[in-house]
Amino acid sequence: MNRIRINSTEGKSLLILGGKMDDILPLIPVKGLFIITDTNVMKIYGSSFPPGEVFVIEPGEKSKTLQVVEDLCRQMLDAGADRASFVLGIGGGVVCDVAGLVASVYMRGVRHAFVSTTLLSQVDASIGGKTGVNLGDYKNTIGTFRQPEFVLCDHNMLDTLPDEEFRSGMGELLKHGAIRDRNLFFDISAAADRLFARDPLLLGDFIRRAVKIKAEVVRRDPKEKGLRRILNFGHTFGHVIETHYKIPHGMAVAQGMIIAAGLSVWKGEMPHPELRLLEVTLEKTGMLTAYPLPAGVTGMVARDKKSQSGSVNFVLLRSVGKAIVRSISVTELQAFVNYYTGK
Ligand SMILES: NC(=O)c1ccc[n+]([C@@H]2O[C@H](COP(=O)([O-])OP(=O)(O)OC[C@H]3O[C@@H](n4cnc5c(N)ncnc54)[C@H](O)[C@@H]3O)[C@@H](O)[C@H]2O)c1
Repeated sequence: MNRIRINSTEGKSLLILGGKMDDILPLIPVKGLFIITDTNVMKIYGSSFPPGEVFVIEPGEKSKTLQVVEDLCRQMLDAGADRASFVLGIGGGVVCDVAGLVASVYMRGVRHAFVSTTLLSQVDASIGGKTGVNLGDYKNTIGTFRQPEFVLCDHNMLDTLPDEEFRSGMGELLKHGAIRDRNLFFDISAAADRLFARDPLLLGDFIRRAVKIKAEVVRRDPKEKGLRRILNFGHTFGHVIETHYKIPHGMAVAQGMIIAAGLSVWKGEMPHPELRLLEVTLEKTGMLTAYPLPAGVTGMVARDKKSQSGSVNFVLLRSVGKAIVRSISVTELQAFVNYYTGK
């Protein structure tokens, strides 16, 4: 078991990697525990949950709405939750995003933590304190920053994850390498088959390496004023693709990474052979499925959270392993989209 601490100006978080449900018992209250999970996780792991009131949401992106947050707050109120209550989200990124938001707004904020059950949430979504729900087609438009007290990542829970969801998690795992650690990126590529076979030791090792990257970035910039923006690599176009085609988050991010890398070459920031390296690895890991950019993509990007007064803070690459952020005007972005889509 590995313990990584995020001590930031915006709060502390303990990441317990490779632990078990029993390891969190000393960290949660005996009374006043409110668990938020989804129906799939409840079915498989409900019997091992710690004692507490359990609220179950529908699995998937459709649960990331303000209505679901309101329903959960109402259920908590009916069940007697007060300011001393503790919210424990047990699930993937959707549960973490929703439970984190509930915990940060219910009675102006109660304590919370996560048991992270998907590869995507163990390497990314559960870590760093971003909470959020969608506003129609716009992802994570309503949300807060609030660090979970702890995040438990039991890698054995990934055994029951459907292949498609595991592959989605590989997207965010590869992203961490692509933005900050070239060796990690190519080590994942070389070990892809064993990772897909869910070799627990190897998985634990790669998850730890990715989490260390995210933890360090979040510690230095907890509220995404600068450095943390690099974690959005692949997300600007990825979010549009995810919403339009209703595909898993990490698969859309992989597609978005290739487009962002194409933009990096187009802008003269990255040599073309680096783009090929990225493409080869994503092809090899089955992450590259051709989803054409939907019509009106630039308009959607312009309304994304990453845009500010007619420009978008876009994460580009200098090379695989080195990300930079550049402000790109919507006009220039449209010119790139025209070039990319062959218009
Ligand atoms: N807050 C952040 O910093 C952050 C970062 C990245 C992604 N996200 C968000 O995370 C979400 C995606 O998260 P996700 O990929 O974990 O999706 P998810 O939470 O929808 O989980 C994927 C599917 O796997 C099921 N599942 C979960 N754990 C399981 C297990 N152990 N065994 C079997 N099935 C299991 C779920 O019920 C669901 O059907 C997106 O909404 C994305 O925007 C947030």
